[in-house]
Amino acid sequence: MTMSAQPMPERVALAFPPGFVWGAATAAFQVEGSTGADGREPSVWDTFAATPGAVVGGDTGDPAADHYRRYRDDVALMRTLGLGAYRFSLSWPRIRPFGRPEPRGLEFYDRLVDELLAAGIQPWATLYHWDLPQSLEDQGGWTARDTAYRFAEYAETIVGRLGDRVASWSTLNEPWCAAMLGYGSGVHAPGRSSPEAAVAAAHHLLLGHGLAMDVLRAAAPNTPSGITLNLYPVAADSPADADAARRIDGLQNRLFLDPVLRGGYPEDIADDLAPFGFDQLVRDGDAELIAAPIDWLGVNYYRGYRVADSPRTGSEPAGREWPGAEHVHFVPDPAAPRTHSGWEVQPGGLAESLLQVHRDYRPVPLYITENGASYPDSLTNGEVVDEDRITFLEAHLKAAHDAVSRGVDLRGYFYWSLLDNFEWAEGYAKRFGLVHVDYLSQHRTPKRSAQWYSEVIARNALP
Ligand code: FCB
Repeated sequence: MTMSAQPMPERVALAFPPGFVWGAATAAFQVEGSTGADGREPSVWDTFAATPGAVVGGDTGDPAADHYRRYRDDVALMRTLGLGAYRFSLSWPRIRPFGRPEPRGLEFYDRLVDELLAAGIQPWATLYHWDLPQSLEDQGGWTARDTAYRFAEYAETIVGRLGDRVASWSTLNEPWCAAMLGYGSGVHAPGRSSPEAAVAAAHHLLLGHGLAMDVLRAAAPNTPSGITLNLYPVAADSPADADAARRIDGLQNRLFLDPVLRGGYPEDIADDLAPFGFDQLVRDGDAELIAAPIDWLGVNYYRGYRVADSPRTGSEPAGREWPGAEHVHFVPDPAAPRTHSGWEVQPGGLAESLLQVHRDYRPVPLYITENGASYPDSLTNGEVVDEDRITFLEAHLKAAHDAVSRGVDLRGYFYWSLLDNFEWAEGYAKRFGLVHVDYLSQHRTPKRSAQWYSEVIARNALP
């Protein structure tokens, strides 16, 4: 048989798989505002933000992007951009303030979900994005095992109400941050700094995830459910730094991936954490609960780490959010461009993180549930020309595409964030949005990046 000399069909450059989910993300405390409305209890973030010096500029959860009151306009905006999905988080202190279900809090999310569905946008709900009710923190917060059970109770309240309409559930967002920044270094709420508290929080958050998965299976058996982790590829320059890399990769990535996808904590890290009481925390049956099968894993990616066992030029010690690895140094790459948050732009690391999961763990569909950058955007003549964000976005989407072509089962991408918002301890000064928010007038202006992203969505491919 002879080969015919037919020309090759023209290939669409960097097309994503059919059905790829294109979305944008927010979190309740960062966008909602209205912190005193409808029976909401203060969260640890309200208390923390009220502590002098805790948040840059003394910023608080009000007004944020006033999304609690403007959600209808925001959904209309999402529709204009062509978003297929909206990832948002539910506010525990609105839904079960002081431990009691609050109908007005539930109704807000009910309306939001209906509005999204009417606009043809999939609602992707996260149960916990760091806003623990203050009354639970007063009883020990995540250092208390009981908080995991209270979390399951809260999950039951909300899943019972929205289970029929939410497209996809996530239990936790970035438990590493909640545990290590919240209880280890105290840079985040509730601002505690003790390695014992941090490791207890990590285990109890994961236990809460496992218990909530049981609730989701029972109340929304047909809805895909998972968890979102923030993964960082870790590199080291020399064999002398291998142990530093092992520790950081272990604390950041494997401490969460292994119990969820392999059924137990990584032994080396459990040993490193034993001096902080980690071995006393895990009870019979916990491992099985935490390993409850998930339908998908969410990966949040911002950058990677280069580490060394001792100081190098420009390096910084790891500090208290790294229990047992405080001596490790993070080594900067002077050549890498940086975002306004000071984070190095390392698109290749996104593919590496996805490949780490693909290679080292059992098969699980992956979604990039967050990726984005802050830049000092300015609104000039009614426009925000954020070419730097477009460059960031394009490079990261290329990396995501590269991962797909290397066999990773990646099914979607959510840009962080839809709107400029309250960037935790950095306050309102760091703008991550596709849409600019004027915090005084609450006027929204889609940035040039929003337009660019919208074209990618329409083509399901990079331009
Ligand atoms: C992630 C958080 C998200 C946002 C981005 C910039 O760690 O999940 O809320 O603050 O960083």
